[in-house]
Amino acid sequence: MSLPRLSQSPLEHPFVQDPYPFYEIARAAGPLFHWEEYGHACAAGHAEVNAILRDRRFGRENPFPKPTPPHLEPFYAVDRLSMLEREPPEHTRLRRLVMRDFTSRRVSAMTPEIEALAHRLIDEMPPEGDLLSSFCETLPVIVICRLLGVPEDMAPQLLRWSHAMVAMYQVRRDRVVEDAAVAATLDFTAYLQSYIAERRADPREDLISALIAADEDRLNEDELIATCILLLNAGHEATVHALGNGVKTLISNDMWHPHDPDLLTEEILRFDPPLHMFTRFAMEDVEVGGHHFAKGEVVGLMLASANRDEAVFADAARFDPTRTPGPQLSLGAGLHFCVGAPLAKLEVATALPILIARCPDLRIIEPPVYADRYHFHGLEKLICAT
Ligand code: HEM
Repeated sequence: MSLPRLSQSPLEHPFVQDPYPFYEIARAAGPLFHWEEYGHACAAGHAEVNAILRDRRFGRENPFPKPTPPHLEPFYAVDRLSMLEREPPEHTRLRRLVMRDFTSRRVSAMTPEIEALAHRLIDEMPPEGDLLSSFCETLPVIVICRLLGVPEDMAPQLLRWSHAMVAMYQVRRDRVVEDAAVAATLDFTAYLQSYIAERRADPREDLISALIAADEDRLNEDELIATCILLLNAGHEATVHALGNGVKTLISNDMWHPHDPDLLTEEILRFDPPLHMFTRFAMEDVEVGGHHFAKGEVVGLMLASANRDEAVFADAARFDPTRTPGPQLSLGAGLHFCVGAPLAKLEVATALPILIARCPDLRIIEPPVYADRYHFHGLEKLICAT
């Protein structure tokens, strides 16, 4: 059976600002549809997105890998060693090692530090300015630096490398973006090589030292670097926009007042998440949603659309921070479920209530605009006055 075909440019300004009307059309079109501009099948409903994320017949590794263009080799040499791009058994080994040190106990022990950092950033905030850079971005990047053990004063440099690298995953990608990503990968790798050598000689109580200790028999040097880069980049790139989208949603819904921190966090992640689509390859010929996927065929999984599915979330288009949490998919599901989920939730649940309490009159003084970087969904800036 051929799939219904839908056309929507992911670069179009109104879509980037509010993709949810298109998602509604996509869910109505059927369990699966063909997104013309991407040229592959997509799932927009909760049941299908959830099922495919958990279906081991789909994976992130292309079963028919294409040769890497030579100019991109330095980028992919690192990227293809990251757990996010692997499937078992390599994925299991890489993830298990990180999870051993990324326990919820270790993460929740960071609460006092996150609180103190939120207060410090608010103390340093100008009365008017970009909340995204002064608070939403600075907080998670410093937290992930501390967790890994990278000096905090490296945060601005890490942001530059990370932004250049993750630009490779956005739909608007050209040679300039590619060259910048390669340059950032080389610099980031060189920095980590020398930093890891330092920690090898002088281990501390941090995640990099722990990974090095396990590394003796488990991770080789290249995998160690790829893992550190993944954690450092994933550790802030989405959280900044969970915070930013959350502030924007609360203020624009006239709800800038205290809420239950955990329910608020769940609802912010459900309602306007920072990452909207991930893809999978069919690892074998497989039949799903009435569609025959040939081995190697791609499917797009529309996480933010699944979160608005009325079959799972009543009155899904309404932001309701008292809602009983449901199975929202902003952090993925299955094998690749976000390693940093407890940390991301703790950061939002800790930092936002402090911001609300300390800045009760916070207001947005310039209309916020979402950046044209689909599948990332985050604001360009968030100009506020306290
Ligand atoms: C609100 C913030 C965050 C969001 C929305 C988010 C979302 C996601 C999603 C959807 C995936 C799965 C991708 C897929 O299935 O293809 C993922 C994976 C991952 N995330 Fe996050 N993430 C966030 C914060 C973090 C943080 C703070 C870390 C810190 C280390 C982190 C580390 C990772 C890693 C390492 C993976 C790969 C897991 C694997 O492949 O097994 N994330 N994240």
